[in-house]
Amino acid sequence: MITPSDHALLHWYDRHRRTLPWRAEGGRTPDPYHVWLSEIMLQQTTVTAVIPYYQKFLALFPTVRALATAPQEQVLAAWAGLGYYARARNLHACAQAVVARGGFPAQVAELRTLPGIGVYTAAAIAAIAFGVPVVPVDGNVERITARLFDEHTPLPGARKVLARLAEGLNTGAEAQARPSDFAQALFDLGASVCVPRTPACGVCPWQTSCAGQAAGTAATLPRKMPKVARPVRHGVHFFVVDEAGQVLLQRRPETGLLAAMTEIPGTPWQATAWPEAEALASAPVRAVWQKAGMVRHVFTHFSLEIIVLAARVARFGNAEVGQGFLLPVTRLQGAALPSVMRKCVAVGMQGLSESESLSG
Ligand code: ADE
Repeated sequence: MITPSDHALLHWYDRHRRTLPWRAEGGRTPDPYHVWLSEIMLQQTTVTAVIPYYQKFLALFPTVRALATAPQEQVLAAWAGLGYYARARNLHACAQAVVARGGFPAQVAELRTLPGIGVYTAAAIAAIAFGVPVVPVDGNVERITARLFDEHTPLPGARKVLARLAEGLNTGAEAQARPSDFAQALFDLGASVCVPRTPACGVCPWQTSCAGQAAGTAATLPRKMPKVARPVRHGVHFFVVDEAGQVLLQRRPETGLLAAMTEIPGTPWQATAWPEAEALASAPVRAVWQKAGMVRHVFTHFSLEIIVLAARVARFGNAEVGQGFLLPVTRLQGAALPSVMRKCVAVGMQGLSESESLSG
């Protein structure tokens, strides 16, 4: 195989690089805080989805110190909707660790010791923000590498082999001189040319050195082990508002899925649907509950089907609020509600307004 040319890739990048808010202009060094924040957000999330969150975070927390000293609730609320909430808690913990040690470390091994920074993210920050000549291997780089080397071993088993092959991509003098651009050039190649299913091999700077293109297999790579079907879980959640327009909410446990995020009260999530009478035993207040609708949400390891019951009460007793808290409906927008709970709230509100227009 012809070694892929670092010059060809960097030349392509110089002409086609995407303008992204966390990117420094050509030749300038980006702020490590910006690079780190963007890399954490980009784990499991698309560039398009990340951009508005990235901008909101920089407006709310202009420096790593501002983020470190912000209340956790404010960080979780700003993150709400991005998903994979362990990232937000680790982000906050990492900001505190960085402030405590006086700044971001520049080396991969030290970056790895910080909360939320794994092998990929450490390499990405080291390369992009500090010019360390390493190749960060994310899904884009795995795809590019599997095609370049016509590697047919399916993922996830192929991960180690692909990482080893990818490590060798930056050995040329230009890649060694421009580690930050080289890493980002790989991301851009994966995002705009070497895309899943329909690679644009005709415009690829590595076309002539790609074994997958030569063999006609590029579009089918990387191979993946068939996914196991996601199980379905069922829950019932309760949307209840008092006459002052306050909603009853609670904070989820400190560990587990959606840890420390805000939710409307509900049953546990189980493998079978809840018979109504059993679900009502979990209701936070006595009320005339009506079925407002159903919410479906897909998590990594299961899909969730939630029946939303809605009710109005005159006021909440202290015992009913219990470990929970009340928030005016008008302030839900700024709360740390994950997407699944935003959907539940929307269904609950819709249910209440429809029943009122029927009876009114
Ligand atoms: N994906 C992960 N990191 C990225 C970056 N810095 N730019 C574009 N896409 C990315």
